[in-house]
Amino acid sequence: MLIFKRISDIAPFLQNQKQRQVVSGFVPTMGALHQGHVSLVKKAKSESDLTVCSIFVNPTQFNDPGDYKQYPVTVEQDIYQLEKSGCDVLFLPSADEIYPGGVPNIHYDIGYLETILEGAYRPGHFQGVCQAVHRLLDIVQPDRLFMGQKDYQQCMVIKRLLSLINSPARLIVAETVREPDGLAMSSRNMRLNGEERKLATGIYRALTLIRRQIRPGSLLPLLDEAKQVLADHQLKPDYITIADAGTLEETETWDGKTEIVALAAAFMGKVRLIDNLVIPRNFA
Ligand code: PAF
Repeated sequence: MLIFKRISDIAPFLQNQKQRQVVSGFVPTMGALHQGHVSLVKKAKSESDLTVCSIFVNPTQFNDPGDYKQYPVTVEQDIYQLEKSGCDVLFLPSADEIYPGGVPNIHYDIGYLETILEGAYRPGHFQGVCQAVHRLLDIVQPDRLFMGQKDYQQCMVIKRLLSLINSPARLIVAETVREPDGLAMSSRNMRLNGEERKLATGIYRALTLIRRQIRPGSLLPLLDEAKQVLADHQLKPDYITIADAGTLEETETWDGKTEIVALAAAFMGKVRLIDNLVIPRNFA
């Protein structure tokens, strides 16, 4: 695997590949890689000629400075994992490389996605994500962009970003990879202690309860039951809600036909976890 730290080195290399019609698949990450990232790399590999991964802990997307400081950094292990998964190129830039003149003063018009759910609880987060991904896309210029469904709202934001910046990259969303007890893989799971790790599975249990018991009509009693599951696991929710899977508009009733998604964000101790489950059309 080739490792680049500077744009002045990676850009001509990738340009050269492009001229030779090599189809590139890009997996942007913030490191602390787990099996979810590995599955993205493998998917990128199977659907492209050249797999490029980036590790950049983007400071501008952390609304909580404590969260940024605590974000796990495991570069040596990450490189090992990427080598093992067959990644071809790793881009490992510094913040100065990504934001040479400081943070760009652009506002991305991502509409209501900016202020609902994750946007409401993490002000500025999605603007930060757009800043980093826009910059990385300009540098890597991939044909395909691979992201995980665990960050459902982020995937919708990036879809919007791609059209805002007229990027030719096609977004490919890969299924969430889970631990055997259902907990969605996340770099933040590393910060859970043994007891917290066991209880964290409550998020998946609350979401699967919704998926199992959902019926057309009012969703409020079911959401109350799901909140109880979180409480039983000592999880403190920012939200647990059901929304239209295409627009993310929250809904309190269901017609039994619209594709919807159950989404949750909750604190286990000091660690904030998110997850979601899509409920297909005509499920009930
Ligand atoms: O999902 C992430 O790890 C980050 O939000 C991303 C897409 C790499 C942007 O910094």
